[in-house]
Formats: sequence, structure tokens, C-alpha cells
Amino acid sequence: MREVTVLGTVAAARAFCEAARAGGATVGLVPTMGALHAGHLGLLRRSVAETDVAVVSVFVNPLQFGAGEDLAAYPGGLRSDAALCAAEGAAAVFAPTTAEMYPAPPAVSLDFGGLSAVLEGVLRPGHLGGVGVVVAKLFAIIGACRAYFGEKDWQQLAVVRRLAADLSLPVDVVGCATVREADGLALSSRNAYLSPAERAAAPVLHRALCSGAERIEAGERRAAAVEAAMARVLATEPLLGRVDYATVAAADTLQPLDPLAGELRLLVAAHLGAARLIDNIGVTVASA
Ligand code: PAF
Repeated sequence: MREVTVLGTVAAARAFCEAARAGGATVGLVPTMGALHAGHLGLLRRSVAETDVAVVSVFVNPLQFGAGEDLAAYPGGLRSDAALCAAEGAAAVFAPTTAEMYPAPPAVSLDFGGLSAVLEGVLRPGHLGGVGVVVAKLFAIIGACRAYFGEKDWQQLAVVRRLAADLSLPVDVVGCATVREADGLALSSRNAYLSPAERAAAPVLHRALCSGAERIEAGERRAAAVEAAMARVLATEPLLGRVDYATVAAADTLQPLDPLAGELRLLVAAHLGAARLIDNIGVTVASA
């Protein structure tokens, strides 16, 4: 198997990437919180295909977890993650400790205006700001690169794009399509929390999104009617717990739109057993 360099410090990661660029190589960054699955490996494969030196960061960022969320239980395993990265051709894994990333609690906080005032920004106060801080740090440490993020966390992707654009960071943010199981369930590290019965129920999120998209494709332009169609599908699954949202919004700003027009995103978040699952798909309404 190919070797992967494991970097534990900010200084080592910065030096590794600077040396790569000094030698004329392009750098790719795949930010993760570990517990790597086929979705992450898809991002890594794309980075390996498009950049000379692919670096995977593995860091469970405490800043993006709220009180009572699953920080302590978050699945991990650096050894197996590093082996997967090596097998896919990553050049390095950056796996700092919390003390290395945050020698002192950061005084900086990030707010993304309207983008963080909806959906996950409301339901998980501080989450998107916490993602913003760690991604800004990763971009500062890794330096000029292409950075690969999954579309499954659509709002996160939108926030990261704004972060790079608003702060003129030398990072090309690349969004990658969600990887799904054959039954439509989006891959997520949190799927590990599902019991077999809950796993069987989980594709209802994707079915709800598809039903909303079909309504739009059939000509429906009222957001409420599309949302009602999604809610009806979700209600067919008795194991599903609280639905946080099942909605349609403008794809780039995530603001509500009525009538529906342009690039849209249907988004859903719901509780299933111990897991909180999110998913989304896109639909375009071409202008008449
Ligand atoms: O999507 C994730 O795994 C995390 O939110 C990220 C981008 C690695 C930041 O901690």
C-alpha cells in the first residue's frame, strides 16, 4: 500500500504544503471530521484526480457542536482513516489535536448574515460560525489550494463559498455531488447511529425530496404546496421523529422564494432514533 504522511501540527502541515507548491505541485484539501465513508473517499478521489498533492484533514471540531449534540460520541478511528486515505492516493493526513488547533479558545467569531439566519443556522446556533472558523483556519494552514466539500451539507458549502469569496482566500472551493446508497440514503458518518429498522426507514428523506422536486417539475410554483408534498411523504414513516424542516429555497442564498423560480434547493432535516439526518437535492426552474 502507498504511504501517507500523517501531520500532527499546524507548522508541519503548513511546511508540507508550502514545500509542495515550491516544487510546482498543486495542493488539494479534503476537510473531514474522520469516520471516513465512501462520500469522503469520493471527494478524495476527485482531489487526487485534479491536484498533485491531496491532503485530508481529520479533525472533530468542537466549535461546531452545540450543547447536547454528539461531540463526545462522534465516530472516529485515525488508523483506519489514514489507511483509507493511503489506499486512495492521498499524500498526507493532517490530524491535529484540539489543543494544537485551539491553543486558546478563539476570540474570533464568524457570522454569515442571511445565510446563517435560516435552517441549520437557526436550529444549531453557533454551528455554521464554528464551521467557518475551523475552515478559515484550515485554509490559512494549507494555503493556496482546491478544497473539496460535499453537497450533502449544502448550507455549509454555501457558507464556505462565501468565506473564501468574502475574505479573498486563495482557495478554489469545489462542491461535489452527494454519494447515496442504492436506496437513496445520503452517506453520512451519522448513519452509523441507525439501528437496522431505522436504517430501513431512512431513505424516506430522499423520497420526500424527490416528491417535492417532481411537483416542481410538473409545474408547481407555490413553495407551500411543494413543502406539503414533502411533509406528506415524511409522515408515511412511523419511525421518523421530529422533522426540523422540509423546505425549498433559493439554492445560493437559501432564502425563501414564492413563486419558485431559478436555481432551487429542496432541503430536509429530521430525527431518526439517535441520529439527526439532513439531505438536499437541486431543481432548476428555467425562466419562461
Ligand atoms: O463537513 C464536515 O465534516 C465538517 O463540517 C468540516 C467541513 C470538516 C469542518 O469541521
